[in-house]
Amino acid sequence: MRVLGIETSCDETGVAVYDTKQGLLGHALYSQTDIHAQYGGVVPELASRDHIRKLIPLIKTLLNESHTKPDEIDGIAYTAGPGLVGALLVGAAVGRSLAWTWQVPAIGVHHLEGHLLAAMLEEPAPSFPFLALLVSGGHTQLVEVAEIGKYIILGESVDDAAGEAFDKTAKLLGLGYPGGPALARLAEQGNPDAFNFPRPMTQRPGLDFSFSGLKTHVLTTWRAQTQNKQTRADIARAFEDAVIDTLAIKCRRALKQSGLTRLIIAGGVGANQRLRSRLGELAKEMSVSVYYPRPIFCTDNGAMIAYAGAIRLETGQSEPLAFNAYPRWPINELNYSVS
Ligand code: KG4
Ligand code: ZN
Repeated sequence: MRVLGIETSCDETGVAVYDTKQGLLGHALYSQTDIHAQYGGVVPELASRDHIRKLIPLIKTLLNESHTKPDEIDGIAYTAGPGLVGALLVGAAVGRSLAWTWQVPAIGVHHLEGHLLAAMLEEPAPSFPFLALLVSGGHTQLVEVAEIGKYIILGESVDDAAGEAFDKTAKLLGLGYPGGPALARLAEQGNPDAFNFPRPMTQRPGLDFSFSGLKTHVLTTWRAQTQNKQTRADIARAFEDAVIDTLAIKCRRALKQSGLTRLIIAGGVGANQRLRSRLGELAKEMSVSVYYPRPIFCTDNGAMIAYAGAIRLETGQSEPLAFNAYPRWPINELNYSVS
């Protein structure tokens, strides 16, 4: 079965064609970063309008480049939530309309499920069950993935998500948007011994996270220092170390507690090279296997949506023509089976 995937939950327009026999046939991405950069963050209305402009041309390019004719598409998967409601509705409307035109089934996919399954697009793909560390701009969660469609949240952030903390901290330090990659680049020049920031919520039991205090720590440290290039880099490094260390401590705890032997990294912060190598070391030390999507499939993309949708469409699941989008949508509300 060949599925067109559409992702428009935030500021990337992502599309892909996934074939359940041949794998990923192609993907295309248009990032709106330049549009939002001048405002220092995503402007929802501008995001929706740009998805409208870019989505159909991007689908045309994708079909050309993946040598796929519209009549070879057997189903359509689009992100139904969580995300920005206007942005989601663009993908849902285009997805449903194409499905009606081409007379194929369509399905709304949970954005976080897409992230959790992105590692399935790589070789070797992990087998189930596994522990997933989902670190995106909107969510930080440790999820036990028993099988496709069965997700148990073991712990999550009680305030800012890891990506959000990266973005807000970058803003405090005067870095551009999106802040995560900019802060990670700056941290490379920082001295790891200059500052030592707290590892929030690691002293008490449990698997929840809290990152909003770190941001305040950055602000008070920055204000108390002579503000120059090196101090900025040192603070970025201390912040990144604190986040990575905290994530690694909780992953270790979750692996121990659950007895799971496979760890999957998912979401935009999963593109962070130092996080990837740190979790690689942890996995080695604990004799567990670690799996990462390629960096471009850590951040928002159409391939993960095409994959997650294809698995369900293949078993005959689909939804009627009417559609909705869900700005908030807890992933543990999903409970379906493909076996
Ligand atoms: O998964 P994603 O593309 O969107 C959401 O679903 O939220 O994640 C975007 C987040 C942003 O907060 C961005 O700053 C962060 O991922 N990010 C990074 C890196 N690349 C992206 N954070 C740290 N280091 C990176 N290299
Ligand atoms: Zn995302």
